[in-house]
Amino acid sequence: MLSSIIPFTPEIATEVSKYCTGVSEDQSAAQKEVWDWTCSQFQDAHKMSSPLQGATMKFLAEHQRAKRSNALAWYESTVATQAEIITLELDPKMIAASRRTFDKHGLNDRVTLIEGPAQESIEKLSGQFDIIFVDANKDGYEGYVKTALDNKLLSPTGFIMCDNVFARGMTISPDANPYLADGPRAYWTECGKALRKLNTFLKNDPRVDVVLLPVYDGVSLIKWKTTEYLKLVESIMASQVESIMASQVESRLRGREKEEKYANLLYISKGREVYKLTYMRVK
Ligand SMILES: C[S@@+](CC[C@H](N)C(=O)[O-])C[C@H]1O[C@@H](n2cnc3c(N)ncnc32)[C@H](O)[C@@H]1O
Repeated sequence: MLSSIIPFTPEIATEVSKYCTGVSEDQSAAQKEVWDWTCSQFQDAHKMSSPLQGATMKFLAEHQRAKRSNALAWYESTVATQAEIITLELDPKMIAASRRTFDKHGLNDRVTLIEGPAQESIEKLSGQFDIIFVDANKDGYEGYVKTALDNKLLSPTGFIMCDNVFARGMTISPDANPYLADGPRAYWTECGKALRKLNTFLKNDPRVDVVLLPVYDGVSLIKWKTTEYLKLVESIMASQVESIMASQVESRLRGREKEEKYANLLYISKGREVYKLTYMRVK
């Protein structure tokens, strides 16, 4: 059985992270500026995604060709796709820090920060996201993921990434991390209970596939199952056809039907039936 090959102690984990960071993609100048500034300003800067985690997220977002996401960490990877980024934050200090970064790095053209409790904000979102990054209060994760799925906020080919799913090991068992100090142990024990519930929910939800990766503090990746993907694609196609038909009717009303030149065919598969739909393209 292939489990983690290296038996980790804090020292070995540090050495491994350092080595992986060194042989992975480097931080950009902008990422480094935000990293250094945050470390100089915040005592709890250790909550920030590490350079290696940042490189992982950038890698995934570029591979995804994301057009819409919910986290600033993906910004640089989505410049090429002109991605729209919506980020949710509650704490005034973090809101101010975020706005400083948007101004300093010229991100205001595509980043929207919605202030307030994330659950309230996510319930008001519409449209679809290619990447949804969940890294706020751990007892809120289940609600955030459930809302994203129920409201179809995740695009057919998108993924959700949840950070800190190990809760420093407390999700797995109280013995999973003998190195965790008593101070943070109580906090992470409560987080672990909520994240264990999240994992059970995800494992049993028939709409999604999930993998929990033993990297960083445990990262879960969630995507639609193929059956759900097909249903979503079908409904998107159906709404596109409806809008094509609506615009056709509209152009007819404008008396442009004489100019119709090309006949196009659209097929919509619904279950095992295939509907064929003919419409004229107005030139
Ligand atoms: C671990 S930090 C995020 C770190 C960030 N992803 C990074 O890599 O730098 C968690 C953030 O979630 C915010 N947060 C906590 N509870 C929240 C809630 N209920 N609604 C919105 N934001 C919340 C905190 O203020 C904090 O800024």
